[in-house]
Amino acid sequence: MRAVTVIPGVPGSLRLLDDYPEPAPEEGPILVEALSVGVCGTDIEIIDGQYGEAPPDTDHLVLGHESLGRVLEDPTGTRQPGDLVAGIVRHPDPMPCPNCAVGEWDMCRNGLFTEHGIKALPGFARERWRLQPRFAVGLDPSLIEVGMLLEPTSVMVKAWDHVDRIGLRAEWQPRTALITGAGPIGLLAALLASQRGLSVHVLDLATEGPKPALAGALGATYHSGPLDQLDLEPDVIIECTGAPVVVLEAMCKVGPNGIVCLAGVSSGGRTIDFDAGALNRTLVLENNVVFGSVNANRRHWEGAAEALSKADHAWLGSLITRRVPLAQYATAYSPGPQDIKVVLDFAA
Ligand code: BGC
Repeated sequence: MRAVTVIPGVPGSLRLLDDYPEPAPEEGPILVEALSVGVCGTDIEIIDGQYGEAPPDTDHLVLGHESLGRVLEDPTGTRQPGDLVAGIVRHPDPMPCPNCAVGEWDMCRNGLFTEHGIKALPGFARERWRLQPRFAVGLDPSLIEVGMLLEPTSVMVKAWDHVDRIGLRAEWQPRTALITGAGPIGLLAALLASQRGLSVHVLDLATEGPKPALAGALGATYHSGPLDQLDLEPDVIIECTGAPVVVLEAMCKVGPNGIVCLAGVSSGGRTIDFDAGALNRTLVLENNVVFGSVNANRRHWEGAAEALSKADHAWLGSLITRRVPLAQYATAYSPGPQDIKVVLDFAA
């Protein structure tokens, strides 16, 4: 069958193989036919040779962690043929650590977790894959065009879940949320903020293209000026750019008792001058919290499936700026300036 693969650590090794083996029965009893796979910055980093790890005993890693497929067979009866499913990206470490032992693999402590399409597990950019029931998440059939957004949504559901948990340290009645970055992750964070009834602000560099209207359609206020000049004191900031200056400004900008969630991965290697003492003074005197957030556990995936079902499906569809047939796979991994989410289409 066809599969999009790379050799991790080797830039330029992206290939569409047409003789990739059928999924092994050990992967799980649920056999799934791929419908689509979303592309994200992590895929590009893997293609550039900066990230990613092949499964043991092979050089090749099948890409794809933002999955959507249709069940072909499930002898366990957990899913019916025809059901839409997505595969949970991360699997717990084999020890397992205290967090993985209770299903909180998103908080794995020893780094021995594996991730489909990223770290030591084949991804979902192949025509068929298999799942164990505990890693299969069902989607409403109405999400057939946009269900590959489940994975990035699960990551943002986790971010908001942890904001809530941190907020509970004291009386917590947040009103205003600022999302920095209006890529797919930022816009999905804004969607979840608007579903919570918050007053939502979105900040991005773009002044043209689809981003301002997509934020506006959520009822959010769109800003494109410098963060430190915004006339706002957000209770929560979800930082989705990973841009060092924006990260620091977010920490300074959040209001009293505020929470900053860092969800954008920086590439590192760029240094900037900043006054660490002034930042510390603000964080201490205002009880502020800054935390990082990655990945998601089953609870978050299920929350994401619910959030997507409730969302305006046309709005979700407009996040997908390009659908690339599998045969032209390479173009999916070169996002253009107007792209938000590019999707590899297995059904085309
Ligand atoms: C994925 C996460 C994953 C992270 C680190 C992100 O692109 O969405 O599921 O944990 O990369 O590998």
